Amino acid sequence: MEIIIQPTPEAASLLAARHLAQLIREKPNAVLGLATGHTPLALYRELIRLHREDGLDFSRVTTFNLDEYVGLPPAHPASYHAFMQEHLFAHVNVSPSRIHLPDGLATDIPASCRAYEEAIRAAGGIDLQLLGIGGDGHIGFNEPSSSLASRTRIKTITERTRRDNAYAFATPDAMPHHVLTMGVGTIMDARQVLLLAFGAKKADAIAAALEGPITAMNPASILQMHPVAKYLLDEPAAAKLTRLDYYRWVYDGKPDWQKV
Ligand code: GLP
Repeated sequence: MEIIIQPTPEAASLLAARHLAQLIREKPNAVLGLATGHTPLALYRELIRLHREDGLDFSRVTTFNLDEYVGLPPAHPASYHAFMQEHLFAHVNVSPSRIHLPDGLATDIPASCRAYEEAIRAAGGIDLQLLGIGGDGHIGFNEPSSSLASRTRIKTITERTRRDNAYAFATPDAMPHHVLTMGVGTIMDARQVLLLAFGAKKADAIAAALEGPITAMNPASILQMHPVAKYLLDEPAAAKLTRLDYYRWVYDGKPDWQKV
């Protein structure tokens, strides 16, 4: 685990963007796993800036998003299709044919989920999976009690997650109960994971995920088993970690080439 604590979400997001940009420069046909929510917004803004000002080239990049609401058409403003268009895809030169999100309108959901897994495999697997974390430790929409070996499938979101994400909908009741999400096992297959968490309301989930036992009650905790997992945290999100000083000491002592 590489735990990197930054003074602000902006500072952490700049580091994350630099890390993604370096991957894309080293591997122009990189396969990226992408996330939605407030957390990656500043990272996406910086990627757009790097595209516009530094020529960061997305033309051969392939993307797979973590999740989508069941029943929302891509044009629905609260869909994750629309979110990704608005906050990243419309502003960089990613090829529409290389963009993938679960199909919230699929009529045969199990077949559609199998096809999503197959598309990830056919693309060569995910090089880097970007993650946020829910206040209950969920990653993607893998809520507590999700199988830690799960693959892309339909899930029911919890009342808490519904409350947390209701802001995107005209009324809380307009929010679907069901989602399609990459499984925990799908996420674990990525060659590298980069989890971002900002703000005090993530502190308990982060402490449990990084320093607690591996448990389906906090699906992010399985990332302790991932060989290349990096965590970019701001101070409030890191505040409940017991070994904070050690993590800072390790990161500060790294040679520049090894730092994110
Ligand atoms: C949703 C998404 C997750 C995201 C989480 C946190 O549940 N499915 O991928 O990590 O929200 O959202 P936020 O970044 O807004 O706190």
